[in-house]
Amino acid sequence: PRSTAHGVDGDLLLGGVPLTQLAARFGTPAYLLDELTVRQHCRDYRSALPDVEIAYAGKSMINRGVLRWIAEEGLSLDVCSAGELAVARAVAFPASRIIFHGNVKTPEDLKAAVAYGVDRIVVDSLDEIEQLGALARYPQNVLIRVTPGVDGHTHRAIATGVEDQKFGFSLASGAAAEAVGRVLAQPSLRLVGLHCHIGSQISRVASFEEAARRMVAFMAALHVQYGISLPQLDLGGGHAVPYRCGDPSFDLHGYADRILRAVNFECSSHQLPLPRLTIEPGRAIIAAAGITLYRVVTVKHGVSRTFVAVDGGMSDNPRPSLYGARYSVRPVGRHFSAISRSATVVGRHCEAGDIVAEDVPLPSDLRAGDLLAVPCTGAYHHSLASNYNMVGRPPVVSVRDGSAHLLIRRETEDDLLSRDLG
Ligand code: LLP
Repeated sequence: PRSTAHGVDGDLLLGGVPLTQLAARFGTPAYLLDELTVRQHCRDYRSALPDVEIAYAGKSMINRGVLRWIAEEGLSLDVCSAGELAVARAVAFPASRIIFHGNVKTPEDLKAAVAYGVDRIVVDSLDEIEQLGALARYPQNVLIRVTPGVDGHTHRAIATGVEDQKFGFSLASGAAAEAVGRVLAQPSLRLVGLHCHIGSQISRVASFEEAARRMVAFMAALHVQYGISLPQLDLGGGHAVPYRCGDPSFDLHGYADRILRAVNFECSSHQLPLPRLTIEPGRAIIAAAGITLYRVVTVKHGVSRTFVAVDGGMSDNPRPSLYGARYSVRPVGRHFSAISRSATVVGRHCEAGDIVAEDVPLPSDLRAGDLLAVPCTGAYHHSLASNYNMVGRPPVVSVRDGSAHLLIRRETEDDLLSRDLG
């Protein structure tokens, strides 16, 4: 995070607050979130793309505190369930700036979206078009999720632009054109545009550019086929962040430049009016603002490896086991030996695959009770957290200008038992 600074005695400051102090006050593990970094990322996006609507993807990290910052920074919001919408409603997030997504929207999801009056619903199946058509009142704005057939070169589990996965209507198969016809035939729906999201953690700007070109070419084809020119084009999120030093990063200004050029060029060559563009970054707004703080419980020496076991693990961060994600780890809170050795930081859960960070350099005098900070954990950590092994989820603590604020409290055993009705 931008406001990280080195404190005295091996401590580290986040938002002006020493991590040792945060650990003492809130316990470990804890998710820490630097408010000013989140706000700065919102501003970076708005200034790089001043005429583009920036919609924060709430699935990356959602709670009332974060949504207030997002609303104040003038961003829109992408939600994908009635539950996420409930958080938006709790802070009175303007419905006019909400986009509702999802390949499966239950009747409850659709009803909640219509009842709150969300500006746009992104339809993802023929069944949904019918169900929404029956439920909505004219004019319910609709975008159609299109699969442009573009490979984002990311992990298979988060690649959504290619053919034959569960999201969207295929351009190549003609399903997308059919979906357009179906939406146009629903009197309660108003087709305002198209949407695509080619995947997540993508650093190749060329993939986004190719998707944008294909989407505009499809808009041109619809102009010919149906005589409509759609006013909106939503190009989704998926912008990569570097989790560790040396990881590929995403060039926001290069992206802005190439996307705008591609859309302008394609529109003028097809004599189409320019659509209003939307993008939906989640990770790029929030990931680098987060740090997870763990406490070392034991250091164990195997035959050829050293294991540092901490008080969290795959219940607060399943990303290493889901996507092979790699993290860096920083010991904090005291002076450590300069001599380091390679160690694997593991969690408390009953699986050999419960790994926080594999083969990372750590000081040779690291011992039980020490604190470890894992950076870049703001996105898809709290939101992917589970109660595996009946472990309560960690708190989310925001920091700013030297003070800390509890956004989400730690889950207690009473919380966990409250759903168990025996
Ligand atoms: N828009 C739509 C329609 C999406 O499905 C997503 C993410 C986004 C925007 C935001 O993508 P982002 O900018 O955050 O990459 N759990 C995985 C990531 C799953 C992403 C799902 N959809 C992970 O931890 O890497």
